[in-house]
Amino acid sequence: MPRASKPYDIVLYGATGFVGRQTVAYLAAHQEVQASGLRWAIAGRNRAKLEAIQRELHAPQAGVLVADAADTAALDTLARSARVVLSTAGPFALYGTPLVEACVRHGSHYVDITGETPWVKGLIERLHTRAVQQHTRIIPCCGFDSIPSDIGTYLAQTTMRATHGRDCVDVKAAFSIRGGFNGGTLASFFNMLDAGQSQAMRDPFLLNPADRRPANPAAHGDPVAPFFDADLNSWLGPFFMAPVNTRVVRRSAALLGYDPDFHYQEYLRLGRGASRAVAAAALSAGSVATQWAMALKPVRALAQRLAPAPGEGPSEDSMDGGSFQTRIVGRAADGTRVHGRIADQGDPGNRATTKLVCESALALALQANELPHGRNHGGVLTPASGLGDVLVARLRAAGMTVEMN
Ligand SMILES: NC(=O)c1ccc[n+]([C@@H]2O[C@H](COP(=O)([O-])OP(=O)(O)OC[C@H]3O[C@@H](n4cnc5c(N)ncnc54)[C@H](OP(=O)(O)O)[C@@H]3O)[C@@H](O)[C@H]2O)c1
Repeated sequence: MPRASKPYDIVLYGATGFVGRQTVAYLAAHQEVQASGLRWAIAGRNRAKLEAIQRELHAPQAGVLVADAADTAALDTLARSARVVLSTAGPFALYGTPLVEACVRHGSHYVDITGETPWVKGLIERLHTRAVQQHTRIIPCCGFDSIPSDIGTYLAQTTMRATHGRDCVDVKAAFSIRGGFNGGTLASFFNMLDAGQSQAMRDPFLLNPADRRPANPAAHGDPVAPFFDADLNSWLGPFFMAPVNTRVVRRSAALLGYDPDFHYQEYLRLGRGASRAVAAAALSAGSVATQWAMALKPVRALAQRLAPAPGEGPSEDSMDGGSFQTRIVGRAADGTRVHGRIADQGDPGNRATTKLVCESALALALQANELPHGRNHGGVLTPASGLGDVLVARLRAAGMTVEMN
């Protein structure tokens, strides 16, 4: 897509939301955006709110586009004018589909920060083939769900191949996180449960192509029991984002051709010692109890009343004081191991998510020729299959620790 053919390189859709505002601030302050002359716009359903954000966040250079999530004509105009659309307007099952359809119609690459796997499954079913034909990269899950998991596993695979000449048959990731929840994130979670999608969410291969599901999917179920892991020298317990991230990593495994016996799981990392063992056991029991309780409509209704509302989120201090660390271990069939780490200062749900999704959009806008499979590749992809090494280099340049050896 020649750069001059569309007026904007990147359009930020959902720019008035809690994360959306942070994407505006990120691009406004990004040196490469200024140096490259990147043309960008902010978009959403409310012009007055968008113009206020343009002023408050010092982004006079950004254009303003108005389009309600249900207004197909306005979304067509938006997609026609954007080489890349970055969306933070969620719940995506409520506001996302017409926008992605417009992007595929008009050949605009697309990234977002959804963690709603049943919605992504619907995109794959309806739009993957057309996006392949259109050479359009549709890449959901470019926030904290699921870039550290997906790119970490991709690096374990590529490092194992480059250094030891074999494939990983098993990769595990263990997370340490500090940060709070956004109202928008909780709204998306409750919306999936209200829509009766718990069963779909439990399918370990929900996002895999139909012909790339193993014979024994049950062997890849989400782990519940705590255990002490010798590689990581730590007690590990269930991680609440694993039912999202593992599905994305397994789609990458199918699209990128990891070993046919490839296994991936991820966990929360709790540390060493007796008190950590107790914490791991409590976490396991708590996660089973929470799943059971959330299946009950009255409990869910109460939780929704107590949760922060859409548009709300942690304080600036809490976001700046947050952090995450993902430790990754890849193992080949003969026991050879690679070890990696992805980490950054700033809370996962906002600061890290903003950096991850903005750098993903910038990779599409500024480095299209260097992306996996070149310019003419498309489909409903994953961060690893759609952005690969380009994203790894961009995240390092943006100050994120991304190591594997
Ligand atoms: N991947 C991750 O790690 C991660 C992290 C954080 C959040 N998320 C996800 O990102 C999404 C947004 O989170 P958030 O905290 O930023 O939520 P939020 O503050 O509630 O923002 C929602 C955005 O959607 C827009 N919107 C609502 N209805 C619309 C409509 N009919 N037409 C157009 N736009 C509409 C809102 O516009 P108005 O301002 O006009 O209402 C707002 O800009 C959620 O789905 C959340 O789960 C993912």
